[in-house]
Amino acid sequence: MLRNQRHQFNIPDEVAYFNCGYMGPLSKVAEEAGIKGVMQKSEPWKMTPTDFFTDSDIARGLFAQLINADAVDIALVPSASYGLAIAAKNIPLKEGQKILVLDEQFPSNIYCWQERCHETGAEIKTVPAPKDRDWTRAVLDQIDSTVAIAALPNNHWADGGLLDLVKIGAELRKVGAKLVLDVTQSLGAMPLDVQAVKPDFLIAAAYKWLLGPYSVGMMYVSPNNQNGSPIEYNWLNRAGSEDFSGLVNYQDEYQNGAVRYDMGQRANFALMPMAIATLRQILNWGVDNIYTNISATNSRISDAVRAFGLTSVPTEFRAGHFLGLEKAGGFSPTLLADLAKEKIYVSHRGNSLRITPHVYNNEDDCDRLIDALSRLSGN
Ligand SMILES: Cc1ncc(COP(=O)(O)O)c(C=O)c1O
Repeated sequence: MLRNQRHQFNIPDEVAYFNCGYMGPLSKVAEEAGIKGVMQKSEPWKMTPTDFFTDSDIARGLFAQLINADAVDIALVPSASYGLAIAAKNIPLKEGQKILVLDEQFPSNIYCWQERCHETGAEIKTVPAPKDRDWTRAVLDQIDSTVAIAALPNNHWADGGLLDLVKIGAELRKVGAKLVLDVTQSLGAMPLDVQAVKPDFLIAAAYKWLLGPYSVGMMYVSPNNQNGSPIEYNWLNRAGSEDFSGLVNYQDEYQNGAVRYDMGQRANFALMPMAIATLRQILNWGVDNIYTNISATNSRISDAVRAFGLTSVPTEFRAGHFLGLEKAGGFSPTLLADLAKEKIYVSHRGNSLRITPHVYNNEDDCDRLIDALSRLSGN
């Protein structure tokens, strides 16, 4: 089992930060990499054309390793919404077809599909929140031959409700539908294997569970979707861009694989070193180990708070790294601020008090959270 890793972060002892689902903290190695990256721009005479490719390709390779893909299948994007817009632009859709989404899904994975529906006459089909909390069954029940795309997460962003993407992916393939995943709220903390799930597009912003910088994201594109159009027509992702003296020999061809979808200025000299440092650290810890560590923290909290009437999605239907606490009658509107006064940080999303720990949360953090909820979560 992965031991507590708080020593790798600059988190003060008195801070109990249970809000990785809001914003993951940078670890010390990522901070150092970022500072070096910033300083590099002060000495541009040391930057060579090769530098426009090196870090981008290292980041692609590390992200690919995380999901069991090849580096050439990874595009560099600035946000989840950017990657989702690429997926939305490139999947054919027509009137009468449906796009499957979850009730109260995160908006970055809704607006692009609404736009496509306006353009094509297709419709969004929202899977209602299942009373028995089994999102997998609820999604499977809605898959039929009218579904052209399922645009889903691995777990619901409010309460952590889990989707079995292997089962869902297999069912979608039977009706010829595409699978687009926004795994911003899980990748890095929960294992995912694209060879098993077989998504068409999979996107993650790096600033939450990947513990990376803001404005960096990565996108896996399956080989059969690598002939589409990017949403920016930049020079770096065209064939032969390595030769800076030949850039005005304009090229119709792109670089290989998913690289054609890269954002403009993807070689971000300040941010990419941080993303690389954090991806290395996550791979070094091992995602299975991270998941086990965080799941144990959440189990401990959910077991303890049951005593004062706080419940959550049953374990078999909940992502282990994500705990949404619920209370009959709802939580006090001042609860978040009351907890913050004690330097305990969580979120409120939908009906859930969202507890999202990581490997830096120690026993003291848990004791303080449980104690505070015993005093403050009543009405
Ligand atoms: C599920 C999910 N996807 C994506 C994002 C971020 O979206 P974007 O990168 O488009 O800002 C969030 C932020 O809370 C999220 O919860």
